[in-house]
Amino acid sequence: MRTIWAACWPRTAPDSRVAFKESDMITAPHAMLPDLTAEDRSRQSAIVALRRFLNAQVRPRNISHYEKQGVPAFSAAHGHAPQSHEEVADAFRLSSGYRTWSAMNRAAQELLWQTAGEPILRHDETLRETYRRLTAERLETVGGGLSLDPDLSGIGLVADIDIHLQPGGYTLDRGEADVVAGALYEMGGRVFSVGQGIGAGDSKAGAVIAFLAERFPDLKPRRILDIGCSAGAAACEYALHFPEADVHAVDIGAGMLRYAHARALALGARVFFHQMDTARLGFADGEFDLVVSHNVMHEIDNDVRRAMMRESRRLLAAGGVALHQDVPYRFQDLDVPHQVEKSWDVEFNNEPFWVKYATADVTGDMVAAGFDAATVREERIPKLRGPGAWYVAYGQQTGGARG
Ligand SMILES: C[S@@+](CC[C@H](N)C(=O)[O-])C[C@H]1O[C@@H](n2cnc3c(N)ncnc32)[C@H](O)[C@@H]1O
Repeated sequence: MRTIWAACWPRTAPDSRVAFKESDMITAPHAMLPDLTAEDRSRQSAIVALRRFLNAQVRPRNISHYEKQGVPAFSAAHGHAPQSHEEVADAFRLSSGYRTWSAMNRAAQELLWQTAGEPILRHDETLRETYRRLTAERLETVGGGLSLDPDLSGIGLVADIDIHLQPGGYTLDRGEADVVAGALYEMGGRVFSVGQGIGAGDSKAGAVIAFLAERFPDLKPRRILDIGCSAGAAACEYALHFPEADVHAVDIGAGMLRYAHARALALGARVFFHQMDTARLGFADGEFDLVVSHNVMHEIDNDVRRAMMRESRRLLAAGGVALHQDVPYRFQDLDVPHQVEKSWDVEFNNEPFWVKYATADVTGDMVAAGFDAATVREERIPKLRGPGAWYVAYGQQTGGARG
């Protein structure tokens, strides 16, 4: 295996558009990350190079393949040009160039999980032991906590499918001290993000913290809630940035939360993790000054997103801010071929809610949830490092239980 991968993909690609550095792969090292062998690194580097190549040089040609191959083939077969979403999707599939990218992109995603998963499963027992050791030795000094709710395991569609092909899905839970779901999320996420061109020092929470400081300079949150925290990266950043604040983080997956808890202890971040459903959060009205979510909206159904907005508002104290960040695709900004091209993840990457999010009226949901319309905004905020932007929708609590 080593020979094949290392020979196919040199560590530094000759084309600067797909170049990456080994240091790109490293973000805050901590005890919950399994040791990687040279072979693991080489294979992960290969996936990074493959993803960069597909994103930078193959995917941008999809629209022209559609126009030059798909539309003529569809028109010849049907006697008219494609118009509806379904017809445009059919025309894309008639283009061999698009089909080639699609197959390669799916294969790259499957390989990503293999290369992320192998070192994790090899170190399964060591990771459990590290979890036990950190929770036994560091909880008292670092603080924070973990509360799991066995009744919540396996609820809804999120438990039924492997979202973005992550093996076992978000709710994978193999019992006591099992942390594989979180480890996979962090390791796979690193390879994916670097392959997307997102730099090692980039951070969604960091971008939001910078944005909040500029837009709400008086906001000094004493209690912060991070919804859909996964492996806990954002929650730890809030805890380290606001050391005086109590940071709480919720997720539906127990294996995610165990990992997030141990990771936070390893990094010295005081975070209270809870297994809760975002549609029914077990906190009192007005408990938080800041409620955030990162990249959750595209992973939940419309009714869950609306419930998350209602819960965000209910939980805010007077003057508090709720901010929900996600990928920047809004379909109202795109023509039909670009919408169809961006819908690939629904069919081939197990992302059932992707288009529902991209077409959602997020700010409308916030107003319907009771936020004062005058405080509700949506915008794109710059990434911390490198090009590109995140979408954010936010609103402020003008009433509320706690001042
Ligand atoms: C894409 S991940 C977001 C991860 C993290 N916030 C980040 O930015 O890296 C979406 C997370 O939302 C969680 N989730 C999905 N449905 C949920 C629900 N109903 N309640 C709580 N968490 C949920 C999933 O388990 C998953 O960990």
